[in-house]
This record gives sequence, C-alpha cells and structure tokens, in this order.
Amino acid sequence: MPKTITEKILSRHVQEGTSCKGTEVGIRIDHCLTQDSTGTMAWLEFESLGLERVKAELVASYSDHTSLGFKGESTDDHAFLKAIASRYGAKFSKNGNGVCHQVHYERFGAPGKTLLGSDSHTPTAGGLAMLGIGAGGMDVAVAAGGGLFHLVVPKLMQIVLKGKLSWGVAAKDIALEILRRISVKGGVGYFLEFAGPGVKNLSVPQRATITNMCTETGATSSIFPSDKVTRKFLRMQGREEDWAKLVPDPHAKYDKSLEIDLSSLKPLVAMPGMPDNVYDIDEVLGTKIDQVFIGSCTNGSYHDIKIVAKMLKNKHVSTDFDVIVSPASRQVWEMLIEDGSFFDLTKAGVRMIEPGCNACIGIGFVPGYEHLSLRTVNRNWKGRGGSKFGKIALCSPEVAAASALAGRIADPRELPPVTVKADRLIIDDYLIIEPSGGGSPIERAPNIVQLESQEPLTSILEGEVLLKLGDGVSTDDILPAGPLTQHLRSNLPEIAKFTFYYEDKNFAERALEKSGGFIVGGDNYGQGSSREHAALAPWQLGIKAVFAKSYARIHRANLINVGIIPFICDTSTLDQGDRLEVDVSDLGRELSVENKAKGSTIKIHHDLSPREIEMIKTGGLLAHTAQKGAGQ
Ligand code: F3S
Repeated sequence: MPKTITEKILSRHVQEGTSCKGTEVGIRIDHCLTQDSTGTMAWLEFESLGLERVKAELVASYSDHTSLGFKGESTDDHAFLKAIASRYGAKFSKNGNGVCHQVHYERFGAPGKTLLGSDSHTPTAGGLAMLGIGAGGMDVAVAAGGGLFHLVVPKLMQIVLKGKLSWGVAAKDIALEILRRISVKGGVGYFLEFAGPGVKNLSVPQRATITNMCTETGATSSIFPSDKVTRKFLRMQGREEDWAKLVPDPHAKYDKSLEIDLSSLKPLVAMPGMPDNVYDIDEVLGTKIDQVFIGSCTNGSYHDIKIVAKMLKNKHVSTDFDVIVSPASRQVWEMLIEDGSFFDLTKAGVRMIEPGCNACIGIGFVPGYEHLSLRTVNRNWKGRGGSKFGKIALCSPEVAAASALAGRIADPRELPPVTVKADRLIIDDYLIIEPSGGGSPIERAPNIVQLESQEPLTSILEGEVLLKLGDGVSTDDILPAGPLTQHLRSNLPEIAKFTFYYEDKNFAERALEKSGGFIVGGDNYGQGSSREHAALAPWQLGIKAVFAKSYARIHRANLINVGIIPFICDTSTLDQGDRLEVDVSDLGRELSVENKAKGSTIKIHHDLSPREIEMIKTGGLLAHTAQKGAGQ
C-alpha cells in the first residue's frame, strides 16, 4: 500500500500496536531533546528510573530559555543540567549556543528519524524531514531511557504548496495563512505533510519556520519531504552522510488536503490574542507599535536575520522604541559577525542579544502596559511576553524590519527587494559538551528538589471544585512562565504556589488548605506550551482530576503522566465550590459524579487507553515504568 512520509517513518519505528489511525502505538525514539526550562525536571525524572545511562541513539540537553541567568537559581539549573548530561551520556548545549530546535536541526537532525522533545515546538525538525514530537518531560525521560513513546496515530493532512514567494512575503506568512485557514484547532489529531511544486523553492530554515509554527494549529507534528534542498543544507552543515531521500509514494492517501499558492500570498500579521487572529498587512498598516523583537526558534535563522540586516543597512530604526535581534544559534551569530551584518544591525540602532529564547518567553524585554510588541515569535496570547498587560503581534522578519524603520506596522514590499544566499556555514560545536561518562559529580543546589513519589489511585475521589474556567485555558494560564517562575522550575513545591496565579492568586493556598480538589475547564484545556509543570504543579497541590470538554494533546498526556484524570463532560452545571465525589474503582468509560453541593448527578466519561488506565491506577508514568522495569 502506498505510504505517506509520516507513515513511512512510523512504520519503521512502531514497536507496539499497528500504525492504524486512531489506535495507540508505542514507537521507538531515535533522538531526545530537553531544554533548561523543562529539562531539570525531566532529568530528575530520568534519574528516578535508576538507569546507568541514556539508551536512545542521541540525547541532547539544551540551555536556552533562562540562558541569561537573571537569577541564581537558573544558574544552578544550568550547572545541574551540564553535570547530569555528562553523567548519563547526553550532549549538553551550553548557554549562548542557541535555541534547542534551531541547534538540533542544524547539528544533529536527520531525515527519517524520530525526535521527542520536552518542548512543544519540537516539530521544527520536520523542516529537515525528521518526525519531531513535543511531549512532557516524563515521556522524554522514559524515551531517553530506551522506553517507547505512546501516541494515538493521527490522521494526515496534506498541504500542497504551489508557486513561489514574492519579495516581502516570507515562510512565516505561509504558516500564518495555514493558521488563518484552519485555526488554532484545525490541526488537532493530525500530522501535517507538505508537498507540491512550491516545496523546492523553500530552504530548510524556511521549512523549519513553517513546521515550527504549525504547532500552533494543534497538530501532533508536521513534516517536509527530504529532497535536494535538504541534502544541500546537510552538506553545508558538514553532514551530508546523514541525508536520505524521503518522499511519499505516488497515490499515498491523506484524510484532508489544503492548497496554498505561494505566489498570491501577502504579508500577514497575527494581532494579539491568538496566532490565528490573522490580518492582511493592508488591514493593520500604520498600527502604532512599542517594541520590535526579531528572533526565536521560529525566525532566528541566518536567512531570517541576514534579510533584516540587508533591509536595515545604512538606515536607522525608529528611536521611539527598542528593536531587539536575537539570532537562534551561535552558528547564525558567527555568520552575522563574519559577513558584517552584526555591524550593519548595530549601526542601524538594533540591540543585539545572544542566541537563546530571551524575549520570546518574557526573559527580558517584557512589553509595557498596553504596549504592542511586534515579534517574529510563534505565540501571542495574554501573558506570553512576561506581562498580561502587554500585547504581542506576530509577523515575518521582513514585516518586523520594515516596521522598525517606519515606527509603525509597515509593508516590506514598499522597500527595495533584498535576497539572501549562503553557500557555506560556519561549523563550530565548541559549546556542545560531549559526555564524559559515569562517575562525574552532579552539582545540586538547594533549589533542585527531587519529586515526591507517585501514589496509586484511590477508589473514591472526593473534593471541591477549586476553580472553574472557560475555553482555551493555556499552560501559561495554569502556570505562568517568564520572570515570575522561570527560576523555580526545579523546585515543584515552590513553583506550585504560582498555579493559576493570574486567574486567581489564592488558588494554591486554597488547594493546599483543602488538601486538593478538582479543576473545571472548557474546550482545548491545556493548549500551548508543552510545560509539564502545568500538570506537575496541580498534582503537587493535590488536584485529583480535571473536568473539561476537551484537552490539548500534550497537556492531556502530562496530566495522565502525573496521575490526574482528564475527565470529559458538559461542564455547564459545575461551579466553583461544588463538592464532588466520583467512584473510580474500575475506571470504566462512563462514570457518574455526585455533586453533593447541589444534590445532583452528572455523567462524565474519559478516553483513556487501557495502558493509560493502568498508568493512572499505578499513580503515573514514573511509578508505572518502575513497576514494569525501566527501559521496557
Ligand atoms: Fe524558546 Fe520561544 Fe522557541 S521560548 S523554544 S524561542 S517558542
């Protein structure tokens, strides 16, 4: 039977189950990645498995989110991550070496392999025809230890690209166009596969911008074919031997198809709120802005920053606000220094910041009150930039550069066209530290706190509804990122005090006082970042179950991994303060909840697989893995 690219990769990696859509399979993971924000917990979880060293083919630990070390606790995390990577056989990418996704596809990615990362933008590797999937730290810890990663085989959506981008229209606009057409929910339950004659006109970094941003559609992953362009990129990275051709078979079948004519696209901007709040540039031209940030794992490639440098050369950006550029990797940074772009950008009035996540998650450059920050990042919901009072609009580097010059949102097509061509790249892996093997001491500052053990599920769950929320609750809403909590990622009891901080500052105190309880959400509960802490923190506070209409994929898995049951129901009759009781002794699909406060009963259900039920009953993924034997 003819196969798609995704089906080819899955069939080579499935070890448990059959790759039949809608069924759960266990797949072998070739590469794992962690970053410093989710990584300390993932490595503590790995350590609790009691293995001698990692078993996956390649495991890389990146330090990128808090690389500026604005608090001592983050510096402690970095020292811990370096030591534990060395001890257990992982590579460690030091502060300043760049954002995990960019560095991984530059230096390690390979077509046809699987990559599991404790970061939701792991599908960025799909630009290099690698199947990248974002997951919680526990799943990554288990996969690094040689265990299987389980997922429900999604449906397939083919996105056919035709034509060629014209000047001023970028890969980011393709991603924004996809979001405009299918929304932030349109990819849920799908793998996206790119095809068509337009693919050959996109470089690997441009493809990676698209696969990175397709995460915002809710898709499990997205992937481009491996072709001549992929081969050239790997040759420039000095790794041509990693290339393998990977295209779909003729007549391979997809569940859905979408066609985009690149030649007819315009520059687009996603205005604040959600990444699918997309407008043609003409509709937002002249909008006042208060900051410009160019960089991140979406748009921090050499191609992206070089085009900005060329647009700004011999000109000056507006002095009404700050313009910040942060290349996504040290390779890009060195290229920009070597070719003079660093000078051109600085001369134009840009503030250059070292490779890393930085402003993307509000580590510095937090927008002011009601300020609009125009950014090339991938997310723009409330609080993402470090303050719930600042606003973020998303755009391409070209729109950002034109707007930085104009002082307002501007159309790059009004400026003379520039092109970028690179035939060589600087290879410098000095800041990637190879593991030295067993016996290395592991530094552990007091802020690095081991997880409590996972306890088996009790037969009756009872407690109070501690908070009722609406649709689209994000992991940022559950546990805010940025300066507030970034330094507490290794200290669950402390970070848990910030659970739902912006929704209800008393939530954590109330949960502790009442020895836990329940949360009620709406549709797509837990969307956004893969942040495992958004499940771990409620678990630490004693939350036993969530009642919602539907769940985002990674957060649902994270809840199950910590033993919190994601129940599905109509939540309209549940209110904060209701006292609930659920008999979960057999965890059948249909259950009843007794609402003691209202004297009523409501029907609920779940979609847990038999493996997940077993895991919940044991207490969570770590307890379940330990029971089965790590690495099984
Ligand atoms: Fe970092 Fe922002 Fe990407 S936080 S991993 S640059 S989405």
